[in-house]
Amino acid sequence: IPVDPFDLVIFGGTGDLAQRKILPALFRRFCAGQWPQQVQIIGAARAGLDRQGFLGMVTESLRTYAENQCRDASALSAFLQRVDYVALDGLSDEGWDQLAGKLTADRVRAFYFSVGPSLFGPLAERIKSHDLATQETRIVVEKPFGHDLDSARALNATLAAHFSESQIYRIDHYLGKETVQNLMAVRFGNMLFEPLWNSQYVDHIQITVAESVGIDGREEYYERAGAMRDMMQNHLMQLLCLIAMEPPAKFDPDAVRDEKLKVIRALDPVKPHHIVRGQFEGGAGNPGYREVVGNRRSTTESYVALRAHVSNWRWAGTPFYLRTGKRLVARSSVINVMFKDAPHSIFGADAGRHANALSIRLQPNEGITLKVTIKEPGQGGMRLVDVPLDMSFAEALGPESQDPPDAYERLVMDVIRGNQTLFMRGDEVEAAWAWTDPIIAGWHARGDVPKPYDIGSTGPGDAELLMKRDGRRWQGINP
Ligand code: BG6
Repeated sequence: IPVDPFDLVIFGGTGDLAQRKILPALFRRFCAGQWPQQVQIIGAARAGLDRQGFLGMVTESLRTYAENQCRDASALSAFLQRVDYVALDGLSDEGWDQLAGKLTADRVRAFYFSVGPSLFGPLAERIKSHDLATQETRIVVEKPFGHDLDSARALNATLAAHFSESQIYRIDHYLGKETVQNLMAVRFGNMLFEPLWNSQYVDHIQITVAESVGIDGREEYYERAGAMRDMMQNHLMQLLCLIAMEPPAKFDPDAVRDEKLKVIRALDPVKPHHIVRGQFEGGAGNPGYREVVGNRRSTTESYVALRAHVSNWRWAGTPFYLRTGKRLVARSSVINVMFKDAPHSIFGADAGRHANALSIRLQPNEGITLKVTIKEPGQGGMRLVDVPLDMSFAEALGPESQDPPDAYERLVMDVIRGNQTLFMRGDEVEAAWAWTDPIIAGWHARGDVPKPYDIGSTGPGDAELLMKRDGRRWQGINP
Protein backbone atom coordinates (compact mmCIF):
# COMPACT_ATOMS: atom_id res chain seq x y z
CA ILE A 1 0.00 0.00 0.00
CA PRO A 2 1.56 3.34 -0.99
CA VAL A 3 2.34 5.67 1.87
CA ASP A 4 1.32 9.34 1.96
CA PRO A 5 3.31 11.91 -0.04
CA PHE A 6 6.45 12.90 1.81
CA ASP A 7 9.63 14.96 1.84
CA LEU A 8 12.55 13.28 3.54
CA VAL A 9 15.63 15.29 4.40
CA ILE A 10 18.71 13.25 5.25
CA PHE A 11 21.23 15.26 7.24
CA GLY A 12 24.57 13.58 6.71
CA GLY A 13 23.29 12.53 3.27
CA THR A 14 26.79 11.86 1.95
CA GLY A 15 27.74 9.73 4.98
CA ASP A 16 28.21 6.01 5.20
CA LEU A 17 24.87 5.12 6.78
CA ALA A 18 22.88 7.22 4.31
CA GLN A 19 24.69 5.76 1.32
CA ARG A 20 24.88 2.18 2.52
CA LYS A 21 21.52 1.73 4.24
CA ILE A 22 19.01 4.58 4.03
CA LEU A 23 19.11 5.43 0.32
CA PRO A 24 19.22 1.79 -0.86
CA ALA A 25 16.27 1.07 1.45
CA LEU A 26 14.32 3.97 -0.02
CA PHE A 27 15.16 2.82 -3.52
CA ARG A 28 13.94 -0.71 -2.85
CA ARG A 29 10.64 0.58 -1.51
CA PHE A 30 10.36 2.84 -4.55
CA CYS A 31 10.89 -0.19 -6.82
CA ALA A 32 8.30 -2.11 -4.81
CA GLY A 33 5.76 0.58 -5.69
CA GLN A 34 5.32 1.83 -2.18
CA TRP A 35 5.84 5.48 -3.02
CA PRO A 36 3.18 7.83 -4.28
CA GLN A 37 4.14 10.30 -7.03
CA GLN A 38 4.81 13.18 -4.69
CA VAL A 39 7.99 12.26 -2.94
CA GLN A 40 11.21 14.11 -2.53
CA ILE A 41 14.45 12.93 -0.94
CA ILE A 42 16.86 15.70 -0.09
CA GLY A 43 20.41 14.87 0.88
CA ALA A 44 21.89 17.58 3.06
CA ALA A 45 25.56 17.71 3.92
CA ARG A 46 28.46 20.04 4.38
CA ALA A 47 30.34 18.53 1.46
CA GLY A 48 30.69 21.05 -1.34
CA LEU A 49 28.76 18.99 -3.86
CA ASP A 50 26.05 20.02 -6.25
CA ARG A 51 22.99 17.99 -7.16
CA GLN A 52 24.76 16.23 -10.04
CA GLY A 53 27.65 15.26 -7.79
CA PHE A 54 25.26 13.88 -5.19
CA LEU A 55 23.28 11.92 -7.76
CA GLY A 56 26.55 10.38 -8.98
CA MET A 57 27.33 9.31 -5.45
CA VAL A 58 23.85 7.88 -4.90
CA THR A 59 24.00 5.98 -8.19
CA GLU A 60 27.25 4.36 -7.15
CA SER A 61 25.82 3.37 -3.76
CA LEU A 62 22.67 1.91 -5.25
CA ARG A 63 24.73 -0.12 -7.71
CA THR A 64 26.65 -1.55 -4.79
CA TYR A 65 23.95 -1.94 -2.15
CA ALA A 66 20.75 -2.39 -4.14
CA GLU A 67 22.31 -4.37 -6.91
CA ASN A 68 19.27 -6.43 -7.90
CA GLN A 69 16.95 -3.50 -8.33
CA CYS A 70 19.58 -1.45 -10.15
CA ARG A 71 19.45 -3.60 -13.23
CA ASP A 72 16.35 -1.68 -14.27
CA ALA A 73 17.81 1.58 -15.63
CA SER A 74 14.43 3.29 -15.95
CA ALA A 75 13.65 2.65 -12.27
CA LEU A 76 16.98 4.11 -11.31
CA SER A 77 16.47 7.27 -13.32
CA ALA A 78 12.88 7.65 -12.08
CA PHE A 79 14.19 7.39 -8.52
CA LEU A 80 16.96 9.89 -9.10
CA GLN A 81 14.49 12.43 -10.43
CA ARG A 82 13.07 12.58 -6.94
CA VAL A 83 16.44 13.06 -5.28
CA ASP A 84 17.83 16.50 -4.59
CA TYR A 85 20.73 17.94 -2.66
CA VAL A 86 21.42 20.96 -0.54
CA ALA A 87 24.80 22.03 0.85
CA LEU A 88 24.06 22.96 4.41
CA ASP A 89 25.88 23.58 7.63
CA GLY A 90 24.26 22.26 10.79
CA LEU A 91 26.19 24.76 12.89
CA SER A 92 25.35 27.93 10.99
CA ASP A 93 22.46 29.32 8.98
CA GLU A 94 24.15 28.58 5.71
CA GLY A 95 22.01 26.65 3.26
CA TRP A 96 18.84 26.59 5.37
CA ASP A 97 16.92 29.01 3.16
CA GLN A 98 17.63 26.82 0.15
CA LEU A 99 16.37 23.82 2.09
CA ALA A 100 13.22 25.71 3.08
CA GLY A 101 12.64 26.58 -0.59
CA LYS A 102 12.71 22.92 -1.58
CA LEU A 103 10.18 21.63 0.95
CA THR A 104 6.55 21.23 0.01
CA ALA A 105 3.61 22.22 2.20
CA ASP A 106 1.02 19.60 3.17
CA ARG A 107 3.29 16.60 2.97
CA VAL A 108 4.69 14.38 5.66
CA ARG A 109 8.06 15.91 6.44
CA ALA A 110 10.77 13.73 7.92
CA PHE A 111 14.22 14.84 9.00
CA TYR A 112 16.69 12.00 9.34
CA PHE A 113 19.61 12.88 11.62
CA SER A 114 22.23 10.60 10.12
CA VAL A 115 24.92 12.56 11.95
CA GLY A 116 26.78 12.44 15.25
CA PRO A 117 24.73 13.21 18.37
CA SER A 118 26.55 16.52 18.91
CA LEU A 119 24.61 17.86 15.93
CA PHE A 120 21.16 16.78 17.17
CA GLY A 121 20.68 20.00 19.17
CA PRO A 122 21.89 22.46 16.52
CA LEU A 123 19.85 20.74 13.81
CA ALA A 124 16.69 20.61 15.92
CA GLU A 125 17.09 24.30 16.77
CA ARG A 126 17.51 25.35 13.16
CA ILE A 127 14.57 23.29 11.95
CA LYS A 128 12.53 25.31 14.41
CA SER A 129 14.12 28.72 13.87
CA HIS A 130 13.78 28.42 10.09
CA ASP A 131 10.18 27.46 10.54
CA LEU A 132 10.52 24.10 8.85
CA ALA A 133 8.56 22.10 11.42
CA THR A 134 4.95 21.36 10.56
CA GLN A 135 2.32 19.25 12.30
CA GLU A 136 3.46 16.32 10.20
CA THR A 137 7.14 16.65 11.03
CA ARG A 138 9.10 13.62 12.21
CA ILE A 139 12.65 13.40 13.47
CA VAL A 140 14.63 10.20 13.02
CA VAL A 141 17.73 9.56 15.12
CA GLU A 142 20.20 6.73 15.01
CA LYS A 143 21.99 4.75 17.61
CA PRO A 144 24.18 5.23 19.55
CA PHE A 145 21.63 7.24 21.48
CA GLY A 146 24.04 8.52 24.09
CA HIS A 147 27.10 7.00 25.66
CA ASP A 148 25.60 6.59 29.11
CA LEU A 149 22.53 7.62 31.08
CA ASP A 150 23.55 11.25 31.48
CA SER A 151 24.28 11.79 27.81
CA ALA A 152 21.09 9.97 26.78
CA ARG A 153 19.09 12.19 29.13
CA ALA A 154 20.75 15.26 27.70
CA LEU A 155 19.92 14.15 24.14
CA ASN A 156 16.33 13.44 25.10
CA ALA A 157 16.07 16.88 26.71
CA THR A 158 17.56 18.56 23.64
CA LEU A 159 15.08 16.89 21.32
CA ALA A 160 12.18 17.41 23.72
CA ALA A 161 12.88 21.16 23.75
CA HIS A 162 11.81 21.29 20.11
CA PHE A 163 9.67 18.24 19.37
CA SER A 164 7.12 16.09 21.11
CA GLU A 165 7.87 12.42 21.85
CA SER A 166 5.33 11.41 19.20
CA GLN A 167 7.52 13.09 16.59
CA ILE A 168 10.77 11.39 17.58
CA TYR A 169 11.77 8.07 16.01
CA ARG A 170 14.80 6.44 17.68
CA ILE A 171 16.08 3.64 15.51
CA ASP A 172 17.20 0.25 16.77
CA HIS A 173 17.43 -1.57 13.47
CA TYR A 174 16.94 -4.97 15.17
CA LEU A 175 13.31 -4.05 15.71
CA GLY A 176 12.91 -3.67 11.96
CA LYS A 177 14.07 -7.21 11.25
CA GLU A 178 11.33 -9.47 9.99
CA THR A 179 12.16 -12.29 12.38
CA VAL A 180 12.42 -10.03 15.39
CA GLN A 181 8.85 -8.95 14.79
CA ASN A 182 8.02 -12.56 14.33
CA LEU A 183 8.95 -13.07 17.97
CA MET A 184 5.80 -11.20 18.88
CA ALA A 185 3.74 -13.15 16.37
CA VAL A 186 5.02 -16.47 17.72
CA ARG A 187 4.40 -15.50 21.33
CA PHE A 188 1.08 -13.75 21.02
CA GLY A 189 -0.42 -15.38 17.96
CA ASN A 190 -0.30 -18.91 19.38
CA MET A 191 -2.02 -20.46 22.33
CA LEU A 192 0.64 -23.11 22.53
CA PHE A 193 3.52 -21.18 24.01
CA GLU A 194 2.15 -18.49 26.29
CA PRO A 195 0.84 -20.77 29.10
CA LEU A 196 4.33 -22.25 29.44
CA TRP A 197 6.15 -18.93 29.06
CA ASN A 198 7.17 -18.40 32.67
CA SER A 199 9.54 -19.54 35.39
CA GLN A 200 7.39 -22.50 36.30
CA TYR A 201 8.18 -24.19 33.00
CA VAL A 202 11.18 -22.37 31.58
CA ASP A 203 14.51 -23.30 33.11
CA HIS A 204 16.45 -20.50 31.42
CA ILE A 205 16.68 -18.49 28.23
CA GLN A 206 19.73 -17.94 26.04
CA ILE A 207 20.07 -15.03 23.66
CA THR A 208 23.05 -15.19 21.32
CA VAL A 209 23.99 -12.59 18.74
CA ALA A 210 27.25 -13.87 17.30
CA GLU A 211 29.04 -12.07 14.51
CA SER A 212 31.89 -13.27 12.35
CA VAL A 213 32.76 -9.73 11.22
CA GLY A 214 35.16 -7.50 13.14
CA ILE A 215 35.11 -3.76 13.56
CA ASP A 216 37.08 -2.68 10.52
CA GLY A 217 36.49 0.91 9.55
CA ARG A 218 34.79 1.76 12.85
CA GLU A 219 37.78 1.46 15.16
CA GLU A 220 37.47 4.85 16.77
CA TYR A 221 33.80 4.52 17.60
CA TYR A 222 34.09 0.91 18.75
CA GLU A 223 37.07 1.52 20.98
CA ARG A 224 34.92 3.95 22.98
CA ALA A 225 31.82 1.77 22.86
CA GLY A 226 32.72 -1.92 23.18
CA ALA A 227 30.24 -4.77 22.87
CA MET A 228 28.29 -3.65 25.93
CA ARG A 229 27.34 -0.26 24.49
CA ASP A 230 27.35 -1.30 20.84
CA MET A 231 25.11 -4.37 21.09
CA MET A 232 24.03 -5.34 24.60
CA GLN A 233 22.48 -2.03 25.70
CA ASN A 234 20.29 -1.88 22.63
CA HIS A 235 19.89 -4.90 20.32
CA LEU A 236 20.13 -7.69 22.90
CA MET A 237 18.15 -5.65 25.38
CA GLN A 238 15.36 -5.28 22.83
CA LEU A 239 15.35 -9.02 22.16
CA LEU A 240 15.20 -9.68 25.88
CA CYS A 241 12.25 -7.30 26.17
CA LEU A 242 10.31 -8.97 23.38
CA ILE A 243 10.88 -12.41 24.89
CA ALA A 244 10.16 -11.42 28.48
CA MET A 245 7.41 -8.81 28.24
CA GLU A 246 3.79 -9.29 29.25
CA PRO A 247 1.28 -9.44 26.41
CA PRO A 248 0.40 -5.86 25.48
CA ALA A 249 -3.33 -5.26 25.18
CA LYS A 250 -2.87 -4.10 21.60
CA PHE A 251 -0.15 -4.01 19.01
CA ASP A 252 0.14 -0.28 19.25
CA PRO A 253 3.21 1.84 19.95
CA ASP A 254 2.65 2.78 23.55
CA ALA A 255 1.10 -0.51 24.61
CA VAL A 256 4.16 -2.39 23.32
CA ARG A 257 6.69 0.10 24.61
CA ASP A 258 5.09 0.27 28.06
CA GLU A 259 5.53 -3.49 28.40
CA LYS A 260 9.13 -3.41 27.21
CA LEU A 261 9.94 -0.64 29.66
CA LYS A 262 8.57 -2.71 32.55
CA VAL A 263 10.96 -5.52 31.65
CA ILE A 264 14.00 -3.23 31.63
CA ARG A 265 12.96 -1.72 34.92
CA ALA A 266 12.55 -5.18 36.44
CA LEU A 267 16.14 -6.16 35.60
CA ASP A 268 18.33 -6.74 38.63
CA PRO A 269 21.78 -5.17 38.69
CA VAL A 270 24.21 -7.70 37.22
CA LYS A 271 26.71 -9.17 39.66
CA PRO A 272 30.37 -8.89 38.58
CA HIS A 273 30.84 -12.66 38.62
CA HIS A 274 27.89 -13.02 36.26
CA ILE A 275 29.64 -11.18 33.45
CA VAL A 276 32.42 -12.27 31.13
CA ARG A 277 34.18 -9.83 28.84
CA GLY A 278 36.34 -10.96 25.98
CA GLN A 279 38.64 -9.49 23.36
CA PHE A 280 39.68 -11.36 20.21
CA GLU A 281 43.33 -12.23 19.85
CA GLY A 282 45.34 -12.27 16.66
CA GLY A 283 46.60 -15.43 15.06
CA ALA A 284 47.24 -17.13 11.72
CA GLY A 285 47.91 -13.81 10.03
CA ASN A 286 44.77 -12.16 11.40
CA PRO A 287 45.25 -9.08 13.55
CA GLY A 288 43.82 -9.16 17.04
CA TYR A 289 41.54 -6.49 18.45
CA ARG A 290 44.36 -4.42 19.89
CA GLU A 291 46.20 -4.33 16.59
CA VAL A 292 43.03 -3.42 14.72
CA VAL A 293 42.40 -0.40 16.94
CA GLY A 294 46.10 0.45 17.23
CA ASN A 295 46.09 0.43 21.03
CA ARG A 296 48.25 -2.21 22.65
CA ARG A 297 46.67 -1.62 26.03
CA SER A 298 43.05 -1.46 24.96
CA THR A 299 40.65 -2.95 27.50
CA THR A 300 37.58 -2.54 25.32
CA GLU A 301 35.53 -5.73 25.07
CA SER A 302 34.66 -7.19 21.67
CA TYR A 303 32.61 -9.89 23.45
CA VAL A 304 30.33 -9.92 26.44
CA ALA A 305 28.29 -12.65 28.07
CA LEU A 306 26.17 -12.17 31.15
CA ARG A 307 23.45 -13.62 33.31
CA ALA A 308 20.48 -11.35 33.82
CA HIS A 309 17.43 -11.64 36.02
CA VAL A 310 14.05 -10.16 35.34
CA SER A 311 12.63 -9.81 38.83
CA ASN A 312 8.91 -10.07 38.41
CA TRP A 313 6.23 -12.69 38.95
CA ARG A 314 6.63 -14.27 35.57
CA TRP A 315 10.39 -14.66 35.57
CA ALA A 316 11.63 -14.84 39.16
CA GLY A 317 14.15 -17.69 39.25
CA THR A 318 14.63 -18.04 35.48
CA PRO A 319 17.99 -16.65 34.39
CA PHE A 320 18.53 -15.04 31.00
CA TYR A 321 21.98 -15.65 29.55
CA LEU A 322 22.95 -13.12 26.91
CA ARG A 323 26.08 -13.11 24.77
CA THR A 324 27.37 -11.22 21.78
CA GLY A 325 30.76 -10.85 20.15
CA LYS A 326 32.79 -10.03 17.08
CA ARG A 327 34.98 -12.38 15.02
CA LEU A 328 33.26 -15.46 16.35
CA VAL A 329 32.86 -18.76 14.56
CA ALA A 330 29.73 -17.75 12.64
CA ARG A 331 27.11 -15.09 12.15
CA SER A 332 24.19 -16.41 14.08
CA SER A 333 21.43 -14.77 16.13
CA VAL A 334 19.34 -17.25 18.05
CA ILE A 335 17.08 -17.26 21.06
CA ASN A 336 16.82 -20.55 22.93
CA VAL A 337 14.01 -21.05 25.39
CA MET A 338 15.11 -24.01 27.49
CA PHE A 339 12.24 -25.75 29.27
CA LYS A 340 12.49 -27.65 32.52
CA ASP A 341 12.68 -31.44 32.72
CA ALA A 342 9.40 -33.29 33.06
CA PRO A 343 8.64 -33.38 36.82
CA HIS A 344 8.79 -37.17 37.05
CA SER A 345 10.13 -39.79 34.69
CA ILE A 346 7.84 -42.80 34.40
CA PHE A 347 10.57 -44.49 32.36
CA GLY A 348 13.08 -44.70 35.18
CA ALA A 349 16.59 -43.39 35.50
CA ASP A 350 17.84 -45.24 32.41
CA ALA A 351 15.74 -43.04 30.17
CA GLY A 352 18.07 -40.13 30.99
CA ARG A 353 17.16 -36.49 31.34
CA HIS A 354 15.26 -34.78 28.58
CA ALA A 355 13.83 -31.33 28.25
CA ASN A 356 12.11 -29.42 25.50
CA ALA A 357 13.82 -26.47 23.90
CA LEU A 358 12.45 -23.89 21.53
CA SER A 359 15.02 -22.22 19.27
CA ILE A 360 14.06 -19.12 17.38
CA ARG A 361 16.65 -18.39 14.68
CA LEU A 362 16.69 -14.71 13.85
CA GLN A 363 19.45 -14.79 11.24
CA PRO A 364 20.54 -16.43 9.06
CA ASN A 365 18.38 -19.44 8.13
CA GLU A 366 15.39 -17.90 9.89
CA GLY A 367 13.05 -20.36 11.50
CA ILE A 368 11.95 -22.21 14.58
CA THR A 369 12.99 -25.55 15.99
CA LEU A 370 11.24 -27.32 18.83
CA LYS A 371 13.16 -30.11 20.46
CA VAL A 372 10.83 -32.90 21.54
CA THR A 373 11.49 -36.23 23.19
CA ILE A 374 10.33 -39.46 21.57
CA LYS A 375 11.04 -43.14 21.89
CA GLU A 376 14.19 -44.39 20.29
CA PRO A 377 13.14 -46.91 17.63
CA GLY A 378 13.96 -50.56 18.26
CA GLN A 379 13.48 -53.36 20.71
CA GLY A 380 15.77 -52.23 23.49
CA GLY A 381 13.08 -51.15 25.93
CA MET A 382 11.88 -47.61 26.48
CA ARG A 383 14.85 -45.51 25.54
CA LEU A 384 14.22 -41.88 24.82
CA VAL A 385 15.77 -39.62 22.25
CA ASP A 386 15.46 -35.89 21.42
CA VAL A 387 14.49 -34.93 17.89
CA PRO A 388 13.93 -31.52 16.29
CA LEU A 389 10.61 -30.36 14.90
CA ASP A 390 12.21 -28.02 12.46
CA MET A 391 10.66 -25.22 10.52
CA SER A 392 12.54 -22.95 8.20
CA PHE A 393 10.47 -19.87 7.30
CA ALA A 394 11.81 -19.94 3.76
CA GLU A 395 10.62 -23.51 3.22
CA ALA A 396 7.31 -23.01 4.96
CA LEU A 397 6.41 -19.70 3.39
CA GLY A 398 7.90 -19.95 -0.07
CA PRO A 399 10.46 -17.94 -2.00
CA GLU A 400 8.93 -14.53 -1.23
CA SER A 401 9.75 -14.92 2.44
CA GLN A 402 13.39 -15.31 1.54
CA ASP A 403 13.67 -11.71 0.55
CA PRO A 404 11.69 -9.75 3.13
CA PRO A 405 12.17 -5.99 3.29
CA ASP A 406 15.39 -5.12 5.04
CA ALA A 407 15.10 -3.52 8.49
CA TYR A 408 15.70 0.00 7.17
CA GLU A 409 13.07 -0.35 4.48
CA ARG A 410 10.45 -1.17 7.06
CA LEU A 411 11.59 1.43 9.57
CA VAL A 412 11.82 4.34 7.13
CA MET A 413 8.36 3.54 5.78
CA ASP A 414 7.03 3.31 9.34
CA VAL A 415 8.36 6.82 9.96
CA ILE A 416 6.37 8.08 6.98
CA ARG A 417 3.28 6.19 8.14
CA GLY A 418 3.71 7.67 11.61
CA ASN A 419 3.92 4.28 13.34
CA GLN A 420 6.27 4.31 16.34
CA THR A 421 5.79 0.70 17.46
CA LEU A 422 9.22 -0.39 16.27
CA PHE A 423 11.08 2.62 17.64
CA MET A 424 12.49 3.14 21.10
CA ARG A 425 10.83 5.60 23.39
CA GLY A 426 12.99 8.04 25.36
CA ASP A 427 12.24 6.43 28.73
CA GLU A 428 13.12 2.99 27.37
CA VAL A 429 16.54 4.14 26.22
CA GLU A 430 17.19 5.81 29.55
CA ALA A 431 16.16 2.71 31.49
CA ALA A 432 18.50 0.58 29.38
CA TRP A 433 21.38 2.92 30.17
CA ALA A 434 20.47 2.93 33.85
CA TRP A 435 20.99 -0.85 33.83
CA THR A 436 24.17 -0.70 31.70
CA ASP A 437 26.01 2.15 33.42
CA PRO A 438 26.82 0.41 36.74
CA ILE A 439 28.16 -2.62 34.86
CA ILE A 440 30.61 -0.48 32.92
CA ALA A 441 31.45 1.63 35.98
CA GLY A 442 32.26 -1.59 37.85
CA TRP A 443 34.74 -2.64 35.16
CA HIS A 444 36.48 0.71 35.36
CA ALA A 445 36.57 0.66 39.14
CA ARG A 446 38.07 -2.83 39.22
CA GLY A 447 40.47 -2.24 36.31
CA ASP A 448 38.86 -5.21 34.56
CA VAL A 449 40.74 -6.62 31.58
CA PRO A 450 38.81 -8.67 28.99
CA LYS A 451 39.70 -12.33 28.54
CA PRO A 452 41.36 -13.18 25.23
CA TYR A 453 39.58 -15.46 22.77
CA ASP A 454 40.55 -16.87 19.41
CA ILE A 455 39.21 -15.54 16.16
CA GLY A 456 36.72 -18.06 14.82
CA SER A 457 35.92 -19.48 18.26
CA THR A 458 32.74 -19.27 20.34
CA GLY A 459 34.28 -16.73 22.74
CA PRO A 460 36.36 -16.93 25.91
CA GLY A 461 36.35 -20.12 27.97
CA ASP A 462 35.06 -18.20 30.98
CA ALA A 463 31.75 -17.78 29.20
CA GLU A 464 31.39 -21.55 29.20
CA LEU A 465 32.15 -21.55 32.92
CA LEU A 466 29.47 -18.95 33.54
CA MET A 467 26.98 -21.57 32.41
CA LYS A 468 28.75 -24.61 33.75
CA ARG A 469 28.70 -23.23 37.29
CA ASP A 470 24.92 -23.21 37.01
CA GLY A 471 24.84 -26.74 35.63
CA ARG A 472 23.94 -25.51 32.14
CA ARG A 473 25.64 -25.03 28.81
CA TRP A 474 25.37 -22.76 25.80
CA GLN A 475 23.69 -24.12 22.71
CA GLY A 476 26.09 -24.22 19.76
CA ILE A 477 26.67 -21.26 17.47
CA ASN A 478 25.65 -22.65 14.11
CA PRO A 479 25.31 -20.60 10.95
C1 BG6 B 1 25.10 -2.42 14.75
C2 BG6 B 1 26.40 -2.48 15.50
O1 BG6 B 1 24.16 -1.69 15.48
O2 BG6 B 1 24.62 -3.74 14.53
C3 BG6 B 1 27.41 -3.31 14.74
O3 BG6 B 1 26.89 -1.16 15.68
C4 BG6 B 1 26.84 -4.67 14.40
O4 BG6 B 1 28.60 -3.45 15.48
C5 BG6 B 1 25.48 -4.54 13.75
O5 BG6 B 1 27.74 -5.33 13.54
C6 BG6 B 1 24.84 -5.90 13.58
O6 BG6 B 1 23.70 -5.79 12.79
P1 BG6 B 1 23.19 -7.00 11.89
O7 BG6 B 1 21.94 -6.45 11.28
O8 BG6 B 1 24.26 -7.28 10.89
O9 BG6 B 1 22.96 -8.14 12.81
